[in-house]
Amino acid sequence: PKVAMLMGGPSAEREVSLSSGRECAAALRTTGCEVIEVDAGRDLCSVLDQISPDVVFNGLHGRWGEDGCVQGLLEWMRLPYTHSGVFASALALDKERTKAVYREAGLPVVESVLVPKAEVAARHVMVPPYVVKPYNEGSSVGVYLVEAGANRPPVLGEEMPETVMVEAFAPGRELTTTVVGDRALTVTDILTDGWYDYDAKYVEGGSRHVVPAEVPSEIFEACLDYALRAHEVLRCRGVTRTDFRWDEARGLDGLILLETNTQPGMTPTSLTPEQAASTGMSFPDLCRWMVEDASC
Ligand code: DAL
Ligand code: MG
Repeated sequence: PKVAMLMGGPSAEREVSLSSGRECAAALRTTGCEVIEVDAGRDLCSVLDQISPDVVFNGLHGRWGEDGCVQGLLEWMRLPYTHSGVFASALALDKERTKAVYREAGLPVVESVLVPKAEVAARHVMVPPYVVKPYNEGSSVGVYLVEAGANRPPVLGEEMPETVMVEAFAPGRELTTTVVGDRALTVTDILTDGWYDYDAKYVEGGSRHVVPAEVPSEIFEACLDYALRAHEVLRCRGVTRTDFRWDEARGLDGLILLETNTQPGMTPTSLTPEQAASTGMSFPDLCRWMVEDASC
């Protein structure tokens, strides 16, 4: 098949997406696909019209590429595309609404609120420790931790939107699970020296991944179960990755969902390709599965 690989785009995760896109394009070529790489700009519609692909591989991350916008355009053009559709994408990129849906489905989350940025800068919106983050970005762009005992509210940078999410800090280990179709793959335990921030995510050696995670089987099974249920209740399609925090001292009660990523990273340091490999699915096989699964 002829595949248009959407990558780059205007979001804060542009560089991550260029990396994901390049990796997936190279992998798909080894499976016999003809792949045209497209840096998604405002002329996307006419570019796709010219290419006339059989499938659009959505390698975008963050706003416009992961929030339903580009999905809407592809629906309009009747072009089959990978990953989730308009509704699930829009819902899942909004971390706050996502939690309302999780909660309704009985999936555990921590308390959070959406607050104007100015208010967050003026006073403690909740008792520290808490985390301030954009409710609609990924890759830990603009994540601020306000530590226990901090007497000042955070000074937020220009990158932050006018409304931000303030979330009670959930201590513990970072666990994550990828879902491919109707199958939760495995659990990864992410070990970092500090915060699992942008550099820890994308600099080689910035974090260490233990896959399959060495956690009690009850926790392992719960991650698989929760990730699959999250994928379903958000009405996702294709591949997603759900991120957890696990406070070991509290056993199963200490396991909470942070978010579901509808466009999980596919870079050389990303978690999803590594999880697929650990279950015997090579990177080219994973990308090819996504192409076969594409629809509109
Ligand atoms: N937002 C990044 C790409 C991820 O979730 O992997
Ligand atoms: Mg994310």
